[in-house]
Amino acid sequence: MNIISTSNLTKSYKRYEKEEGLKGSIKSLFKRQFIMKDAVDNFSIDIRKGEFVGLIGPNGAGKTTLVKMLTGIIAPTSGDITVLGYYPNKLQNEYKKQYAVVMGQKSQLFFELTPSDTFVLFKELYNIPDKIYKENIEYFIDLFDIKDLLNVQVRTLSLGERMKMELIVSLLHNPTILFLDEPTIGLDAIAQKQIRHFLKEVNEKKDTTIILTSHYMEDIKSLCKRCIVINEGKKIYDGSLKSLFARYQTHKMITILFEYESSISLPYDIEILESSPYKISFMIKKFEVNKVLKYIIENYEIADISIEEEDIGNVVERIYSNKVGDIE
Ligand SMILES: Nc1ncnc2c1ncn2[C@@H]1O[C@H](COP(=O)(O)OP(=O)(O)OP(=O)(O)O)[C@@H](O)[C@H]1O
Ligand SMILES: [Mg+2]
Repeated sequence: MNIISTSNLTKSYKRYEKEEGLKGSIKSLFKRQFIMKDAVDNFSIDIRKGEFVGLIGPNGAGKTTLVKMLTGIIAPTSGDITVLGYYPNKLQNEYKKQYAVVMGQKSQLFFELTPSDTFVLFKELYNIPDKIYKENIEYFIDLFDIKDLLNVQVRTLSLGERMKMELIVSLLHNPTILFLDEPTIGLDAIAQKQIRHFLKEVNEKKDTTIILTSHYMEDIKSLCKRCIVINEGKKIYDGSLKSLFARYQTHKMITILFEYESSISLPYDIEILESSPYKISFMIKKFEVNKVLKYIIENYEIADISIEEEDIGNVVERIYSNKVGDIE
């Protein structure tokens, strides 16, 4: 069953432009020039209950704009949108009770309150029955291991600790859908990992549908089976993350350690990353790996070889640089 459905969803922003300098500023007071920009452009998606969907794209691609339309914060310019049977921008209370949104750049907490007080406040705001509240509080406190932080002021929490509270607060009312816009931004590797573990649990144990945008591919790779790529407002890929990587992770990284000082020259198209008398690292197209290895083993004295997957950053760059129509 689809719980999110959009068809040709478009959001155009009016952007005012002003000529350079003081003269331009004065002129713009009287006559404002503007251009229209389609931040989201004819975007159609269907998402089923329980899915964990990754939404990726470069800066300015339209991810946040899409999330804002799905949560009703802004209205679309055109197209159809239905989330849980509602038109989000009507902002009906019954709809608001069924989703949660966490934006890494924006806090929904009151900084002078303690997490304990904040949880009670949200219980009242959402009218959460005692039983569900108690169950959830116990479950989340344990899952995030934040018992010691319950009675300190929110403003004294670290960024990672605060993000854990943001997530708990947003999930107390058992929302059907959780929208996450860059929840791990600025966090260290440990906090990112804890948050990923938490989200995986929530998705699996509570069957919460999660839409996640993140610039950290590790988030997407470890959590989302399905991935949607957006570029310049348009959907350029929607499918399994596995096949996206199969298609774009086109190279492997090979590192060779030599027994003796060697200067290597290969009759293949390689991109050298590092080279010294006893070591060479290079990138090579996947389908040429066997041939190259055979050649090296036959022609050089090798101490060690390692073959690694291409760095995620490279793959993402390749995905984003594809223009519409190149994939699927
Ligand atoms: N209120 C606004 N008025 C005018 N233009 C806007 C407004 N909000 C966003 N835009 C423009 O819409 C486009 C999409 O912005 P959006 O914030 O959705 O991108 P994003 O994919 O979330 O990027 P990022 O990865 O940097 O968060 C950008 O070109 C942005 O400048
Ligand atoms: Mg954004």
